[in-house]
Amino acid sequence: MSNSDNHTVRVFGSASLSNLGPGFDTLGLCLRGIGDIIEARFSSKPGITVASSAPIPLEARNNTAGRAAHLVMTKAGDKRGLHLHIEKGIPIGSGIGGSAASASAGAWAANLLLGKPFTKEELAFEVLEAERLASGGALHGDNALPSLLGGLILTSPVSPLDYRRIELTRPMHLVVVLPKRTILTTDARTILPSVVPRLEAVHNASDLAFVLHSLMAGDWDTLAPYMMRDRIVEPARASLLPCYAAVREAAMDAGACAVALTGSGPAMFAIVNDAKSASEICSAMVEAAGEEANGIVTQADMHGVRECT
Ligand code: HSE
Repeated sequence: MSNSDNHTVRVFGSASLSNLGPGFDTLGLCLRGIGDIIEARFSSKPGITVASSAPIPLEARNNTAGRAAHLVMTKAGDKRGLHLHIEKGIPIGSGIGGSAASASAGAWAANLLLGKPFTKEELAFEVLEAERLASGGALHGDNALPSLLGGLILTSPVSPLDYRRIELTRPMHLVVVLPKRTILTTDARTILPSVVPRLEAVHNASDLAFVLHSLMAGDWDTLAPYMMRDRIVEPARASLLPCYAAVREAAMDAGACAVALTGSGPAMFAIVNDAKSASEICSAMVEAAGEEANGIVTQADMHGVRECT
């Protein structure tokens, strides 16, 4: 049954970490408490309209939330218009999946207004398609799927709808440091090598397997070598972030289990053993950045997109 036409919903789309070292376009993790909020209602105006005070595209076809909502309405065969208001809680171009958070929130908001005809899993295609807008046409699910579904997600870069949830066996405490600069994913993808030597590819494939093993075992202390020596993506992107090496070093010196760039950066994250050490590690990373940066102490989120309570 669909909701009445004057009903309003508020939906929280979570930020996410992607790549996690060697897992380029393959591994992503939903973050607790950082995200975008979308307020949505039916509108007498046909199609999807989008409003926001953030500097983002407001044409629905170029906006990940607008595009996702449009695809959900089309899937449901409902021709009513929708109005979306987006509060960007995630800094633009920060590397923690802002476009994916808006896409998952836009899709879920439309679904709630329609009376929830679809499960989250049934909306994966729509969210992935919307996220394509932010990555220059490439279809990758390492932000979109964790943001939608929550938890740690393994997805195939060849066919992102082929994904698996990796169960975490203990709570994961995290520090995320956000330097106040912007790196656009599209730019940070064009600088990547298109061909890599076999040795590098094998090295990364092996490290990704070890990272997954440590994550599944809940053994964060064994993560560092495998998560921190990506030979293909991070070395190219480190050149875009002058504080990359200093932040890594500071995190490890302060007791982090492992640290890496998230997505195309500039954000970096550290996996830490407990909430107690997290604040100290966070301060060390922010200080080492040597530029304006925000530090956030958080955890992995297992729930994904949700209606605001
Ligand atoms: N895996 C993608 C990349 C994520 O690193 O380009 C973009 O946020």
